[in-house]
Amino acid sequence: GQPRGQVRPGSSGAAVQRAPQAAGPEEAGEDAEVSTRKKTFAEVQTERLEQAERTVLIKCPPKLNEKKLLQYLSSHGNIKSHFFFENRGIHALIEFSEKNSIASLQDAIGLPSAAEYHVVPFKSRLFTFMLKNPVSQAAEETPLHLSPQSHIPVKELIEKLCHADSISSQMYILLNEYQLTDENIKLRYLVCSLVRDFARAYFPDSTVKPFGSSVNTFGKLGCDVDMFLDFHDTQKHAAKTKKGPFDMEYQMKRLPSERLATQKILSVVGDCLDNFGPGCVSVQKILNARCPLVKFSHQPTGFQCDLSVSNSIAIKSSELLYIYGCLDSRVRALVFSVRCWARVHGLTNSIPGTWITNFSLTMMVMFFLQRRSPPIIPTLDQLKELADVLLGDFFEYYGNFDFRRNSINLRKGKEVNKPESSPLYIWNPFEQDLNISKNVNQPQLEKFVAMARESAWILRKEQKAQQMTNKEPWGLAALLIPFGKSNSNKMKNRMKGIGSETIRNLLDSLKLNNPTNLQKAVGK
Ligand code: CTP
Ligand code: MG
Repeated sequence: GQPRGQVRPGSSGAAVQRAPQAAGPEEAGEDAEVSTRKKTFAEVQTERLEQAERTVLIKCPPKLNEKKLLQYLSSHGNIKSHFFFENRGIHALIEFSEKNSIASLQDAIGLPSAAEYHVVPFKSRLFTFMLKNPVSQAAEETPLHLSPQSHIPVKELIEKLCHADSISSQMYILLNEYQLTDENIKLRYLVCSLVRDFARAYFPDSTVKPFGSSVNTFGKLGCDVDMFLDFHDTQKHAAKTKKGPFDMEYQMKRLPSERLATQKILSVVGDCLDNFGPGCVSVQKILNARCPLVKFSHQPTGFQCDLSVSNSIAIKSSELLYIYGCLDSRVRALVFSVRCWARVHGLTNSIPGTWITNFSLTMMVMFFLQRRSPPIIPTLDQLKELADVLLGDFFEYYGNFDFRRNSINLRKGKEVNKPESSPLYIWNPFEQDLNISKNVNQPQLEKFVAMARESAWILRKEQKAQQMTNKEPWGLAALLIPFGKSNSNKMKNRMKGIGSETIRNLLDSLKLNNPTNLQKAVGK
C-alpha cells in the first residue's frame, strides 16, 4: 500500500503526505522522519531544483570501475548521492553536497586544443569519464547496478497482473511498474537545471521549472518533460518603490503584447540550445501555437522536452493534481490504470492529434472521484475552504461543543447523547461501553474549552501582514504563547469577531468574566 496524505491548512497551498516518489529510498533511510513529513508542492520543487544545481552527469565507458570513478570525483567534494543508468551507453548522475564541487571539477579539465575542435567557451555539467589505461580502469570490476528509466513492456505487465489476488492489487502493481522513480525525477530536474544554465546566458535571473506529469505525481516512466522559463522570482525583488529620476529600459524592449515577448524569448533560448546546448538535438520552435514552445530532445538523459514560458495556470493545475494524487492512494492507482487502458486501446497517443490527452483523461478521473458518494477527493472550492481554516475550525468546533449533552463517537462518526455523566465522553471505537476520557474532570474540560475559544479568536484575527511587520507572533505562533489573563473587554471584541450566528448567540448568552456561566456552557 501507499501512504495516505491529508490536506494541511496552509496559505502556501495544501501540503500533502510526501509521495513515495518524492522521497528517495536513500533519503528515507537517512531520516526516518522524512517519510512522514508533509511537503507542499512548492517545497518539493524548491528542494529538487536546489538538488539539481549540485548535480552533474557523467558518460562512462562500458567497463567501468565504480570505485575509481567515485574516488576521482571525491577529490572535488563530498558525493551526496549517485546512480547509474543506461541511455546510449552508461551514464552516472552525481549529486555533490556542495555546488562549488562542480566548479572544482570543471576547473580541473583543460580545454580541448583549438586544432581539434572549435570550442564555444561554455562550461557544461556534462562530463565523459576516460582513463588512459582501460585495463587498470576495468580492474576490480563489480557488477554495476543500473537504475531503470523505462517501464516494463505491457506483455510482461499482463503476466505480472495475472499473479495478483485482486483487481485492487493489480492496480497497485501497475502503478509501481509505471510510476516515475526517484532517480528518474532527479534526472528530470537535472535537465531543467541544465536548460536554466543556458537561459541565464540571456536572462540572468531566470529559472527553469518542471510542470505537468513530471511533477504532478501522475507521470509515467518515459513521459515528456514539460518545463517553463520563469521570471517571477525576479519580479518579487523588482517590485520596489521608485527612488530617483531614472527609468530603466527593463530587461527587454517594450513589446506590444505578452505573447510577442514570449515568442521572442523562446526564440533566442531555442537558438541558444540548438547552437550550443550539449546533447540538445532536434530543436524545434513552435512559436505560433496557442502556448508557444520549443521542443527538443535531450540526448544524455533521453528525455523529450517541451520548453514554454511561465504559465501560471498550468502550474496551478500541476499543483492541484499533486494534491489530489497524494490525498488518497487509490487516486493514482486508478489514473495509471485508466491511462494504461486508454493507451493500449489507442484512445490516447503520444503524438498530438484529435484523441483525448492524458491530461484530459486524468481530469475525467478526478471528476468521477468527486462525484462518488461519499466523494473520494474534494472539489477545488472545498480545498480552498479547507486551506487555512482547519485549525481555527477545530477550536471553534470544540469551543462550542455541547459537552453537557453529547459524546464523541468515532464509530458512528457523530455526536450522540452521553450515556452517563462524565464531563467528557469519548467512546472507545472497539469497546463501545468504555469511555476513553473517563479520567477528565470538569475543570480540565472547562480549561480546554476556554483555550479553544481563545485560540479560535486569535486565528480569526487575520492580521498576519501587520503582525509580521511588527515582528509579532501570528497564527499558530501566537497560539503557542501562554495566553495570560484576558480582560472582559477583549473577550467581548472576540465575540464580534466570530462569524457564525449561533456561536455569537451562544457567546453573547455567556458572561465570560463570570466563571460559573462558562461552567454552564460546558455542563456542570
Ligand atoms: N495543460 C493545460 N491545459 C491543456 C493541456 C495541458 O493546462 N489543455 C497543462 C497541464 O498542467 C498539463 C501540462 O500542461 O499537466 C503538460 O501538458 P501535457 O504534457 O500534455 O500533459 P501531462 O500532464 O504532462 O501528461 P503526459 O504524461 O501525457 O505528458
Ligand atoms: Mg507532459
